[in-house]
Amino acid sequence: MNRLRDISVNNKCVVIRCDFNVPMEGNKITDNSKIIKSLDTLKYLLNNNCKIVILSHFGRVKSEEDKRKNTLKYVGRELANLLNHEVKFVSECYGEKVRDIVMNSKLGDVILLENTRFMDYPEKLESSNDLELAKFWASLGEIYINDAFGSMHRAHASTAGIAKYLEHAIGFLVEEELNNLEILINNTPRPFVVFMGGAKVDDKLPIIKSLINRCDYLLLGGGIANSFLKAKGADIGNSLATNDENILKEIKELLKNYSDKIKLPIDFTIDNGIIYDIGNKSIDMYKKYIDEASIIFVNGTCGKFEDDRFTEGTIMLFETLKNSGKTVIIGGGDTASAVKKFGYENAFSFISSGGGATLEYIADKTLKALEWMK
Ligand code: 3PG
Repeated sequence: MNRLRDISVNNKCVVIRCDFNVPMEGNKITDNSKIIKSLDTLKYLLNNNCKIVILSHFGRVKSEEDKRKNTLKYVGRELANLLNHEVKFVSECYGEKVRDIVMNSKLGDVILLENTRFMDYPEKLESSNDLELAKFWASLGEIYINDAFGSMHRAHASTAGIAKYLEHAIGFLVEEELNNLEILINNTPRPFVVFMGGAKVDDKLPIIKSLINRCDYLLLGGGIANSFLKAKGADIGNSLATNDENILKEIKELLKNYSDKIKLPIDFTIDNGIIYDIGNKSIDMYKKYIDEASIIFVNGTCGKFEDDRFTEGTIMLFETLKNSGKTVIIGGGDTASAVKKFGYENAFSFISSGGGATLEYIADKTLKALEWMK
């Protein structure tokens, strides 16, 4: 697999896949971290006098209405501000108009195409890794750079198939992610402590199963902890938890086989009989394992941190991790947003820009899109 510095990009037209799937409220970007993290690669390409064609997805597109909602137009403006360079936004991502604009642009121009997932409706082409579509995007440039770490667990036309048709390399953002996450994959220092939180257990069970053999302690919070409590037979009322009997069965098995490793919260913030956060006794208990650890990987939050009434558990956890002085690696997605929201962005060793991608990389030791870049 090539890295950006391994290949010659000077005076070339580069098609780059970024992950600009940033959180937005209305037309406002609420967290621009992913765009900021992509700047090093884009600046390097500009310094090498490249013409840059940027591809990115934004949300999921399953209808015409989704196309209206999920435009990259506002991302284009933010990128232009941050890059301090004009960004030509093209309101389509496929077809003759796109080709004409790219061909008529010059070296040093930055072109952002509309959301690649517009090619998922009416026919699912981007997400099914349609190779004709990949070939079209490849035809726009001479080199392909994948710098979309957060999307690399998806083998899509813009993240995977396209690499088949162009000389390619990973960008600086992806390189930094792989370098920083490596420690969680090979020769992880012990004791290795994992905190898993967030709403849903169903998606995270595979990573839990992969990590449980490799870690010393698994501390739980959020809806995931509720599901484990439910599997144990605790009465959690209508609190958020899985109803899937097969998943509950698998959790029971985990609880039976790894009772010494799995740590569940012991007190909670409850409103109307529903658990929304974990309490300070739980964090005190978790502190003992954190203090013992050499390295801690954090994915998910302790409670419903978007609601001001239920932020305390998550803030206490971040404070405990910060004060521990240990190597702390934060998974992306909601966890990274919470870290930023509560002002802990400089408190930890590394904050990943990928949510699902980080988990897949740690569990499988590779990513679907990386496999297309070998
Ligand atoms: C993310 O925000 O986690 C990535 O951009 C991936 O988005 P997706 O789950 O819609 O593929």
